[in-house]
Amino acid sequence: MSEQPQVIRREDYTAPAFLIETVELVFDLDREATIVASRLSLVANPERGTGAGDMVSLDGEDMKLLSLKVDGVALPADAYEVDTTGLRFKAPSERFVVEIETRISPVNNTRLEGLYVSQSAYCTQCEAEGFRRITYFMDRPDVMATYRVTINAPRESCPVLLSNGNLVSSTDLEDGRHQAVWDDPFPKPCYLFALVAGDLACVEDSFKTMSGRDVALRIFVEHGNEDRCDYAMDSLKRAMKWDEDVYGLEYDLDLFNIVAVSDFNMGAMENKSLNVFNAKYILAKSDTATDTDYELIESIVAHEYFHNWSGNRVTCRDWFQLSLKEGLTVFRDQEFSSDQRSRPVQRINDVQRLRAGQFPEDGGPLAHPVRPDSYIEINNFYTATVYQKGAEVIRMMHTLLGAEGYRKGIDLYFERHDGQAVTCDDFVRAMEDANGVNFDQFRLWYSQAGTPNLVWEGNYDADKKVFCLTIEQKTEPTPGQTLKSDLQMPVKIGLLARDGRELHAQTIDLTQAKQDFLFEDIAEQPVVSFNRDFSAPVNVGTTPSHDDLAFLMGNDTDAFNRWEAGQKYASDLLIAAVRAYDKSGDADAALGNVDAFCDALRATLTNDDLDKAFRAQAMILPGEAMLAEQLRPADPEAIYQVRQALRQKVAIALQDEFEAAYRHNASNDAYSPDATSAGQRALRAVALSYLAATGEGVFIDLALAQYRTADNMTDRMAALTVLNNQDHPGREEALADFESRFANDTVVIDKWFSLQAMSSRTDTLEQIKKLMEHPAFTMRNPNKVRALVGTFAMANQRNFHAADGRGYAFYADRLMELDNLNPQVAARLAAPLGKWRKFDEDRASKMKAELKRILAKENLSRDLYEIASKSIAD
Ligand code: TRP
Ligand code: ZN
Repeated sequence: MSEQPQVIRREDYTAPAFLIETVELVFDLDREATIVASRLSLVANPERGTGAGDMVSLDGEDMKLLSLKVDGVALPADAYEVDTTGLRFKAPSERFVVEIETRISPVNNTRLEGLYVSQSAYCTQCEAEGFRRITYFMDRPDVMATYRVTINAPRESCPVLLSNGNLVSSTDLEDGRHQAVWDDPFPKPCYLFALVAGDLACVEDSFKTMSGRDVALRIFVEHGNEDRCDYAMDSLKRAMKWDEDVYGLEYDLDLFNIVAVSDFNMGAMENKSLNVFNAKYILAKSDTATDTDYELIESIVAHEYFHNWSGNRVTCRDWFQLSLKEGLTVFRDQEFSSDQRSRPVQRINDVQRLRAGQFPEDGGPLAHPVRPDSYIEINNFYTATVYQKGAEVIRMMHTLLGAEGYRKGIDLYFERHDGQAVTCDDFVRAMEDANGVNFDQFRLWYSQAGTPNLVWEGNYDADKKVFCLTIEQKTEPTPGQTLKSDLQMPVKIGLLARDGRELHAQTIDLTQAKQDFLFEDIAEQPVVSFNRDFSAPVNVGTTPSHDDLAFLMGNDTDAFNRWEAGQKYASDLLIAAVRAYDKSGDADAALGNVDAFCDALRATLTNDDLDKAFRAQAMILPGEAMLAEQLRPADPEAIYQVRQALRQKVAIALQDEFEAAYRHNASNDAYSPDATSAGQRALRAVALSYLAATGEGVFIDLALAQYRTADNMTDRMAALTVLNNQDHPGREEALADFESRFANDTVVIDKWFSLQAMSSRTDTLEQIKKLMEHPAFTMRNPNKVRALVGTFAMANQRNFHAADGRGYAFYADRLMELDNLNPQVAARLAAPLGKWRKFDEDRASKMKAELKRILAKENLSRDLYEIASKSIAD
């Protein structure tokens, strides 16, 4: 870094000096040199009392200013100032017109922000601050304008020309070029602007809204992928219907477009009426996509669609308010998926994601509140905290107010704020006002970082038949926030009798550091089911006895807590065993007798009253990273060995049951992505994986046979995942087969890269280095980098943390290489090196050395600088 980058603070917010009412853009598309002409009508902001003589300051980066006119007159060189961050001049009056011409180079845009080229198509990505790479503008979400966009491009290479809103005209021009004009009647911030141009295939359908309007739905993909759009289209229609039914929200234009592109920094983007997607979250057919891919497509298509109201019609005042749209929209997509599929399984998945991604963030060097107070680079704050914890905060309001009260609050929110750019506080106020409640204490969830820890204790008075539950809460300090307050949270509990009857169930409103709750008429000493459905996003420090956990696994009426009891039981066994292993080096001995645990798992596996997807989930032991979170220092090799040993013990104890589950869940029907069929496949995959864990060769043969005969990608990947960790010729056969089938399929081949990056085999790093030379791999495509390089650090704890430190050095090299091309993606991948505090001194010092090496890099981006510098701070 040449100079210390500037820190942006929430408390410094001021309203814009000028507003922009209308925007007219004309694009002359060219891969090397696109000309953008912009005509902006500006007006002084009455809220600021600005006017003639005040400075107009427009953001702009990485482009050439060709001309600048104010009210039709070119500004002389001494009347404006232009540098690498923007353009400034004095306002001539309170209301004036600015005309700007700029030149940009889409083909050289490796950051994939602004206008760039993906395969052969042009596309844009403007959130958060990409519009300033297209033209000079007030690039902030509280400046909302209506847009009219003209696109000129060669007809041959760009038959499709798209932007936001309605198509006004299509015209042929001279020299083989043609023109489209688009007009978006809804005022929007520039981060929702989009343009797409290219030779794309189109799949079309329609939706009739609740007021009877027909909306044309179009999905644009590369030619040849038309047969992979059905599920995305179906998901879109179901999402549109769901938003009408559950939120009373109707789509507001006659056209809704989705475009799938191969080069994309994240999952998808909610541009008004022109969503742009990472192709992997659109394209699916049974022989290319797994059940998990289908699930993700459904939820991300819904997520982006839901943003039309929660994000676009009502947007954020500033980027500190990002969770206003993201937390709310994640909660909406989670609930949509729960209604489409199994609610408990959805909740388990969502909590697993929170625990795997958000809890470590909240307990580490990058901890920040759901509504952050400062940032260096806003792209670094599209985090699990803003998204997943933000969704939990909305969910808690839903729980506290009930479905009806929540809906009243939502209705008031949209009634008050439609067409505005608002704050998280405005959202909470709508919830309060609609329900006559006070959320002063609850609001702390937006400002306080860190995961609260709860401990509880039960005392039963057999004479009085009174049960007393004492709950304590405490949140540890986080960087820059040492003092923590007590939070308000809903804690759902159940009290169970020994015969499984539910004696009592309630949602507790916890508000104090230590609080007693009394329950009367409790006939016997109950078993406590605590924080049912994960109603509060907290860690629970209290571990019930193994007997109680086995009882809850078999009897809890709350499905989430049945699963949770199994996880707690397994964690408790594994953590004790890791400690013993560090002394003895013998994983089997360290585990000791685990028969009771195996019996409890058996009861779940064979309980036909339970959903198969749930049973499959319940068989999966806590992951290595999750276990590492609970140990200090964490020994990755010990965790790996002990977890493998427990898997083998379970596999041997339940071998008959797994064989039966494998046999009984074979499907004879054609593949269908529905939740029930997916659950059946998931149970069979778990069975296969455990059978292989017995160590018996016949089951590796079984996996190879399944690979060879699979007629869908879910079964194929399940088999390949088993083979991937083996020393067996079947592994090479299957990997080679997969490569030859899908080498030219850019979405599918990523599965092959990431699988090999995940292998627990000790030659994995060498394999990854070789795979970087593979013709299908390129550092310029974020999906490729995430699949091969990101997966290694995020999902291969054993090899990334290999004691010699080679994993760390390799990873730091890749981050620095990527930083030169795409800093946003480089920074998003950097977090694993910041986990050094969790490991032994030797590993910690090696990880810190790599962070120092990164910080010493020439031309380090602000993005990677922010993550690396915060990660290394003591
Ligand atoms: N708003 C998008 C979403 O949540 C995510 C997003 C933010 C994004 N910045 C991006 C997507 C940059 C792609 C590139 O759906
Ligand atoms: Zn979103």
